[in-house]
Amino acid sequence: MDLLIKETAKILKESDFTIAFTGAGISVESGVPPFRGEHGLWNKYNPEVLDLGYYLDHAEKCWGYIREIFYDFFADAKPNPAHLVLAKMEEAGLLQAVITQNIDNLHHEAGNKEVYEFHGNSKKLKCLKCGSVYDVNEVDLESLPPLCKKDSEILKPDFIFFGEGIPHEAYSNSFAAAERAKVCLIIGSTGEVTPASYVPRTAKQSGATIIEINPEESMFTSQITDIHLKGKASEILTKLSSELF
Ligand code: APR
Repeated sequence: MDLLIKETAKILKESDFTIAFTGAGISVESGVPPFRGEHGLWNKYNPEVLDLGYYLDHAEKCWGYIREIFYDFFADAKPNPAHLVLAKMEEAGLLQAVITQNIDNLHHEAGNKEVYEFHGNSKKLKCLKCGSVYDVNEVDLESLPPLCKKDSEILKPDFIFFGEGIPHEAYSNSFAAAERAKVCLIIGSTGEVTPASYVPRTAKQSGATIIEINPEESMFTSQITDIHLKGKASEILTKLSSELF
């Protein structure tokens, strides 16, 4: 592993445009459960609560689960060493953008500036009628469902439900960065969710070196990955940072 870490550090130092594509795995060590796998949320909850069509018909019922999954669990999560190393890499000019499937806001909280949130952000709630957006701290989630102060419509978390389109700006920024990338770090993703999983594939097609950090194999590993650093994100990125800084 040490040789692979040294080789990876050399590749990163020589790259003038590196992106990081992150999934639920990078936040596991912050106490945010993954969606799939042994301790996956989808083993415990029915994903229909995040199906847009079902939600629009059963918003009140869905909110009970949504608060439990995304606000009770996420509320106290803090960035872990993996998030902090990516922030330090950006500051040092070794990372040009983070493209994340995560809605937990932890890359921002770690200090990263160029973050494209492909699936939105759970820290914002939106009124689907008048378009008003609220910070979650402005809204009392004790009484559900939360309502818009302007028109009393039920507020929806400002992240992507199944069947909902990807935010335009995040989408175009992500693919523009993937086309420019010399190196793409994939951290903690199964690669099962589309169109997000097309981002690293686009980077590969544009000639990028793909470096994957995951204790398990993913759908990327046998298809596009050049170097698989098999381990937990905070462990591997901490080792990497000692070679980079
Ligand atoms: N460090 C690195 N990777 C890890 C760690 C860790 N400590 N723990 C688990 N992983 C890996 C798992 O091996 C798995 O490959 O993280 C991945 C988590 O898989 P998922 O939960 O399926 O996450 P992801 O691929 O990001 O899919 C998430 O699915 O439900 C949708 O939209 C939702 O953005 C979300 C997307």
